[in-house]
Formats: sequence, structure tokens, C-alpha cells
Amino acid sequence: MKHYIKHHEWQIIEEGFDPHLNRISESLFSLGNGRMGQRANFEEEYSGETHLGSYVAGVYYPDKTRVGWWKNGYPEYFAKVLNAPSWIGIHLKIGKTSLDLAHCKVQDFRRVLDMKQGTLHRSFTATLRDGKKVKIDATRFCSMADGEIGVIRYSVTPLNFSSSSTITLGIDANVVNKDSNYDEKFWDEVSKESKAGLALVSAQTKKTFFQVITGMTYALTSGGKKLKGIVRASKREKYADNVVQIKLKKGEELVIYKYGVVLSSENHPKAKMTQVARKKLKDILAKGFDKLFADHTDVWAHKWEECDITIDGDVAAQQGIRFNIFQLMQTYTGADERLNIGPKGFTGEKYGGSTYWDTEAYCLPFYLGTSDPKVARNLLVYRYKHLGKAIENGKKLGFKDGAAFYPFVTMNGEECHNEWEITFEEIHRTSAMAYAMRDYIEYTGDRDYLTGFGLEVLIGISRFWNQRVNWSEEKGKYVILGVTGPNEYENNVNNNWYTNYLGSWTLRFTMEAVDFVKKSNPKRYAAITAKINFQEKAEMDKWKHISENMYFPYDPKRNVILQQDGFLDKELIPVKNLKPEDRPLNQKWSWDRILRSCFIKQADVLQGIFLFEDDFDLETVRRNFDFYEPMTVHESSLSPCVHVILASKLGYKEQAYNFYLRTARLDLDDYNNDTEDGCHITSMAGTWMSLVKGFGGMRVKEGKLHFTPYIPDQWKSYSFRLEFRGRVVKVKVSKDKTDVVLESGQPMEVMVGGKVVGLG
Ligand code: BGC
Repeated sequence: MKHYIKHHEWQIIEEGFDPHLNRISESLFSLGNGRMGQRANFEEEYSGETHLGSYVAGVYYPDKTRVGWWKNGYPEYFAKVLNAPSWIGIHLKIGKTSLDLAHCKVQDFRRVLDMKQGTLHRSFTATLRDGKKVKIDATRFCSMADGEIGVIRYSVTPLNFSSSSTITLGIDANVVNKDSNYDEKFWDEVSKESKAGLALVSAQTKKTFFQVITGMTYALTSGGKKLKGIVRASKREKYADNVVQIKLKKGEELVIYKYGVVLSSENHPKAKMTQVARKKLKDILAKGFDKLFADHTDVWAHKWEECDITIDGDVAAQQGIRFNIFQLMQTYTGADERLNIGPKGFTGEKYGGSTYWDTEAYCLPFYLGTSDPKVARNLLVYRYKHLGKAIENGKKLGFKDGAAFYPFVTMNGEECHNEWEITFEEIHRTSAMAYAMRDYIEYTGDRDYLTGFGLEVLIGISRFWNQRVNWSEEKGKYVILGVTGPNEYENNVNNNWYTNYLGSWTLRFTMEAVDFVKKSNPKRYAAITAKINFQEKAEMDKWKHISENMYFPYDPKRNVILQQDGFLDKELIPVKNLKPEDRPLNQKWSWDRILRSCFIKQADVLQGIFLFEDDFDLETVRRNFDFYEPMTVHESSLSPCVHVILASKLGYKEQAYNFYLRTARLDLDDYNNDTEDGCHITSMAGTWMSLVKGFGGMRVKEGKLHFTPYIPDQWKSYSFRLEFRGRVVKVKVSKDKTDVVLESGQPMEVMVGGKVVGLG
């Protein structure tokens, strides 16, 4: 854990420059706007520890799979979000010396992520090797008002010298992915252009042929007056720039405004992109920094109005929740149904930037609660569009007749993860798509989603379960063999309870969906059955039999659900008996030792209980929580949030609060020692759930919002807002009361602590 981030309600603050923390800060201070984003890399040259990363949503590369021993069914590639051409470079050479923080004395270094405004600020004073002292103040944002624009205001003040200097404003497509399997560069140059006031590089990805044009223009001012300098436009392979020669005068501030555009062929016809980029650069230069900044901050102001959470009395917790919301909002805006939420968003390369079950299991509730229902719907439609590929994925593994096996990791619907235990065994993910539909329908009331899209997906998934189970003569039940549950610290186990439960529930849910669509829209139903050759009676009879006769491992002695058939054969030791030097297990222990141990990476049985809480009475929840949590190491960022919600339900307030801090400040305090790889974006949605569903006790039951709130002792009050069926509801919980207010929309009733409350 690290504690170098200063606590502040609206800002993430780093004071003092520690090069060893730089890669962590580059992740934490990342910026994005749903279309593009980048790590908080310096504008000037930096030869110290850094991980350069700029990303464009939806642009990926299928990096050929690299494994020791090929197994049939392995995906050919692992899709990677690409480190894209960079537009942020502002290299400064004062006299003959480049400004490079690795080679000068740095004082008063301050880096601030202003979450209210969506900006990154950095200021410092650098003393160069020749004694020249210069003050830098930089502000950068990726516009929320126009997802293709980024802007930098970079101010340079010479403190003890005057000197001729050069400023290089570049576009650089000579970028690499650190996680490249074969050290390949993934971009080919298409064209480049450089003339005074403009630099453009058009680059194309190998194999996938996405084209991205990255361009820049700029303005220089001093004392409010425009400056020109002597400009040399130059280019080399995959690179274009403008080099401006200018005299820096002691005590006079020079301000460089750099305007960047990033256009992707996903959104523009390739033939027109250069033209669009040039026009866009001209327009934004004319608009200028102040107007672009105002447009950008207006969008943020509106977003915060919709989704801010306040916590009074605990600045660390307040900063934590806002940081989580901020990162989620900059990662996915819901404007484009082709996009999804990578586990690292625009903050790093790890996990390939692709779509995981995280979206359905963790992120969907956040977007349901804070945004227009279209946003969550787009996430569902994304999977609908991948149905064909999910069926192909199934076929590759030997499934047939339209069985949909959704990938664990994907960019375009194809599975692209290639660790056998995850790719082949972590099959529970295919039902996350079904669960998300239930979540969406319960929250929005939009059951017609099933008619338009959902039913086809559900039938596909149910066909998968139908083929994946097998009848055990010995048990007289259906079993599911050779799986990995959400707890990835056990592989190839039989009858992972979570998997069996989800499989069986999905079959029931699909049968209900069939009935609904059949009754409500017989015409559409007939069209669907014809399209996918659905043999209603035969298929449903079998599903019914499976769901009624699924085997669920159970320990009658302890009265607990069993994570899997062999769980009790393990030596059951609590985590508190582990030595600190053993943690985290995934960095300290051999894989073999982890697999044989009882230690649980993330909620597994408890994940199932969390998803289907109405199926279990409180004592069952308690027994299972008390049995499993002590063996859980929470080494997945997705773990603590589920535990906050269950601990809250059980009245384990202190524990809930500690888990909450862990999820809310996971990256800010670098709990897992891996923030340098990027932030844990998908678990951030879990933080939101922890507060709203955990402390706020929010649930939707039969179309009604329910709250059973309580307040952690450490807080004075907290509040959150929910978008719910055309209304905005604000909930404020204080020590002695809960206020629920209808901020907009039609009157309605909600339940607070079991009592009906009329709103509006
Ligand atoms: C977790 C998975 C998750 C993935 C991406 C892993 O550590 O075990 O459940 O999907 O991270 O967030």
C-alpha cells in the first residue's frame, strides 16, 4: 500500500516528484472521454521510468497467441487495445539543454487531477544542469464535449535566464505496446503532413486496418499577445512536427496552447479523414482554449449533477468514490453501442482493453443507476450483436445447434483469451449476459428488450448449458464437470456451485422469457423460432428437467454451500494465519500451491448469494459469509465490493466499512501493488454498488425502489442520486434520518426501511 496521494474532496493530488511512483501516477491521473484517452505522461521529454500510453476506443490489434503448448480451441490471438499515436508531446530545449525531469532538479512538483472539471494539472520548477531555472505549469483535458479533441495549455516561465529555445510540437506514431507478444510494432504509416501550424500523421493498424489520424495545431502567447517564432515543419517515419524557435525572456511567461485531434476510421470514412481532421483543427484553434474548456467543463458539471455521491465527514472516502465515478464516466459514455468497458479503461494496456464478464456482473448496475437507460441497453445490445460469434466460439469447442458460448475476453465477439482454465473452464461468464438482462429489466421495467433482442441470446445460452451438463447416474442429478468458478484460485473442479446455480437459473429465466415473448408478441416469437430453429417443446422439456435436477454441492455438517465437490478435502485455514510475506499469493506462491490451497481469490459462493439474494434467508447468508470470507484473500479487485454488500446486509458494519475503503481507494492507495499497470476500472463500478446497494441498501423489487440504509460510524452523512424510470431520486442518509427526494419526474412510491414513502 502507498499513501502519497493527498486527501481532497474533488482532487487527486501528488506533491513532490518521486520518479519511482511515476508509473503509478501515470495511471491514476489518466484522462479520457469515452472515445480516447491517455495515461498522465509528461508533455516534455522524459527519460525516466514511464509507460507511454494513448488509446483510442475500439481500435485493437489481434496479437498472435503465444503459448508454450498449443491446445485445440485456443483463440488465434489475444486482442490488444493499442497504444495509439501520441498528440501530447511538447518538447522544450532551452539553449542546448532539453527539459527532462530525469536530468534536472525538480522542486514544487504538483500533479492534480481535478475531477470536477476533468483536467490534469502539473506544475514544477526545474533547474537544468547548466543552472537555468524554469517554471512549468501545464493543464490538459480530453474534451467531454467532443470526444475527438484534446487540449493542452503549457506555460513556461524562465526564472533566472533569458535564452533562445526550441519548442517541438509533435505527433508521434512510433509507439509500441509493452505487452506485444512478439515485440512487433502494430502501426503502419499511411501518410503524414507537416507545415507551419499543422502536423498530421495517419496510421493504420496491421491486420485489423483501423485507421487513426492524429493531428495538432497550436498557438503561442506571451503577456496576452500572440507570438509566432521561427517555425520549421519537419517529418520522419510515422512522425510529424513543428519546431518553433523562440526567445524565452527572464520572468516572462510563454504559453503554448496545443490542440490535438484523434479521428478513427470507426467513425469516419477513411477517404475523408484527413480533410475532417484539418477542418477540425482549424475550428478548434479558432474557438480557443477558454471556449473549449468551458464546453468540456459544462459536460462534466452535468454529469456530476446526475451521478455525484457525497460523503460528509470522511475525506478519504469522499475522494475515493468520486475517483471511481470519474474514471467510469471517462471510460464509457454509452454513446456508441460498439464500445464497451475494458478493465483498465484508458489507463493502461493490461487485460488487452477488451470486454470481460466484468461489464455485466459489475458495471451494468452503475450505468443503470446513473445514466439514461439507453446507456445500459447499449451494453446489452453489444452482446446481442456478438451472438453469432458466441455461437461460433461454441462450435470451436464442439458445441452445436446454436449453443452460444460467450467469450471471457473479447473485442469483436471472438474469444481472445488463451489461458486454458479461463478460456475453456470459466464458463459461468456466458450466464452473466443473461443475468444482466434480468438486472436491466428489473431496474427499467423494459421487458420488451426480451422481444427485440434478449430472447435469442437467452436461447443460445440455454442451448449451451443444455449441452455442457451431464447426467450423473451415481448422483441421479445433472453435474457440470471441469470448470473454474469466479474464484480463479481453483481450476478444473467439478460442480462449482456458482456455475451450477447460474446454469440452472438461466434455463428457468429463458423459459419465462419464452412464455413472455410468445404471449406478448406471437408474431415476433414465430419469427425468432423460425430464425433460430427453436424446437420449443423438446428444448424446453429438457431445460426444465435440467434446472429441476441440477446437483448443488452442500455440506450438511456445517450447513454451508460447497464451493465445489472437493472443497472440504482441502486444509481449511483462515487468511489471518498467512504470513505477511506470503501475500499477495499470486506473486509469492507457486500456482500449484495456490490451487491446492483453500484460499479464495474473489467472491465465489458469495458472488452467487449476492446475485440471487432473495433465494437465501439471512441465516444462510450469514453461515456462508462466516465460512468463506475468512478464507478469501480478495486478490481480485472485484472481490471487496461484493463483501461490502453482504456484510452490510448482515450488519457487519465495521467489516463493511473496511471493505469499502479497500474498493474505493484500491488504486489511490495501490492496495494490490499493481496500479502502475493501470486502474481497476471495472471494480470501480463495484465501489458504487458498495455504497448504493451496501450502505444505502438499494434494491428494486417488483418495480419499486427499496432502501434499507445505514451510515458507517466514520461518516456524518452521505447522499447519492439514482436515475429510475424517468425520475431522478436523491437519497441522503444522516445519523438520525434518511431523506428521499424526487428531484425530477412523476410522483412515485419508494420503500425506506420497510415503510412506504410517497415522493412528489
Ligand atoms: C478476475 C476476473 C476478472 C478479470 C478482469 C481477474 O483478476 O479474477 O474475474 O474478469 O480480473 O477484471
